[in-house]
Amino acid sequence: MDMFVHILSSRIILMLGNFSYSNPTKLYFGDDSLKYLNKELPNYGKNVLLVYGGGSIKKNGIYDKVVEILKANGKEVFEDAGVMPNPTVEKLYEGCKRAKDNNVDLILAVGGGSVCDYAKAVSVSTYCEEDPWDKYYMRMEDVDNKIIPVGCILTMVGTGSEMNGGSVITNQAAKLKIGHVFRENVFPKFSILNPVYTFSLPQYQMVAGFFDIMSHILEQYFSGEDDNTSDYLMEGLLKSLIHSSRIAVKNPTDYEARSNIMWTSTWALNTLVGKGKSQDWMVHMIGQSIGAYTDATHGMTLSAVSIPYYRLIMPYGLQKFRRYAINVWEVNPEGKTDEQIAKEGLDRMEAYMKEIGLAMSIKDLGVTEEMLDGIAKGSFILEGGYKVLTFDEVVQVLKSSMI
Ligand code: NZQ
Ligand code: ZN
Repeated sequence: MDMFVHILSSRIILMLGNFSYSNPTKLYFGDDSLKYLNKELPNYGKNVLLVYGGGSIKKNGIYDKVVEILKANGKEVFEDAGVMPNPTVEKLYEGCKRAKDNNVDLILAVGGGSVCDYAKAVSVSTYCEEDPWDKYYMRMEDVDNKIIPVGCILTMVGTGSEMNGGSVITNQAAKLKIGHVFRENVFPKFSILNPVYTFSLPQYQMVAGFFDIMSHILEQYFSGEDDNTSDYLMEGLLKSLIHSSRIAVKNPTDYEARSNIMWTSTWALNTLVGKGKSQDWMVHMIGQSIGAYTDATHGMTLSAVSIPYYRLIMPYGLQKFRRYAINVWEVNPEGKTDEQIAKEGLDRMEAYMKEIGLAMSIKDLGVTEEMLDGIAKGSFILEGGYKVLTFDEVVQVLKSSMI
């Protein structure tokens, strides 16, 4: 619930904060996990809206397998295809009509974060009596109407959408890309995670997803100055991600690496590791605004601004950056000042990002000088991290990435 609530929060938590935790999504993980769709389907009515993207699931055969199981379970299948990366509000209106006209009992999302986010948006918006963009994305209200249950079959990892309430929708006319983090009643009821399904991802999408995971972890990690169990968990997740991503970049069909990354991705944003922490999320705010202007791949919008952002805030959270350098990047602290250690950590992170092929420049994502002011204005400035940015500092981060 944490990602966007901090617009309202002015408190930086300096110790493990109080919280409640539960996560209602049931996961089925592994190379045989699709069979569990048979177990889940009897829990829902006859009409299923099968939601997917631009056609990758037809090329890699997942579509045929899913439809076969739906039919075998006596379901009436209605299709909502063509969910684009960074799904738009116009597409959402279309999906709501389809769900309502066909009296849908279950929305089955088969795809990446965009498809899963979109399914959740349709789930809460179909029976919403006013414009869902205004209610859920501009005003961030809770859902008080009927919610259609969502199930997810994941084909791209990174967003964590398979086990959280996040749903990001883009309004191209308003040049706004906004995420609502819905409550547990909107989380997918079940998610099927088969690492093999991610093998067909193009390398660019694959590594973008890897950085999305890293960014989710870092934006929760870089907050607070306390001794917090969540930080130890995150350091472990980061080390696993760095290790496995290096293997996957060389050999994308390495099952062990891809399955570890899939699992790390889910934990990075299923709300657990952020518990008790104030959380930052500025990289996502800037990245989303870049996405609204360019429609660029989500993970790359984050990678292109992260190093300038972290170099800017490093002096305000120096001890955490020092810890990050030593515990994650294995910087040897001997004979070095705290600044030198922290800086070396970020240098190693930058080298790793270049090594796996991430975008390091917003110019490469289609950003022009003329867009900078608008992108900065569309970047909601949040509190919760080590430094509340000024508008000029947002521009500074963007300019540092115009390389
Ligand atoms: O549309 P298809 O043809 O399926 O192709 C997709 C799409 O072009 C392709 N793809 C996915 N699985 C594939 C595959 N191609 C070949 N083989 C496969 N197995 O990959 C492309 C990108 O897919 P998309 O779903 O857009 O990627 P991602 O999972 O990164 O999702 C991005 C969206 O999620 C939002 C982002 O803002 C963005 O809109 N986020 C959602 C979050 C959440 N729910 O909590 C948090 C994240 O920070 C993020 O903001
Ligand atoms: Zn993300």
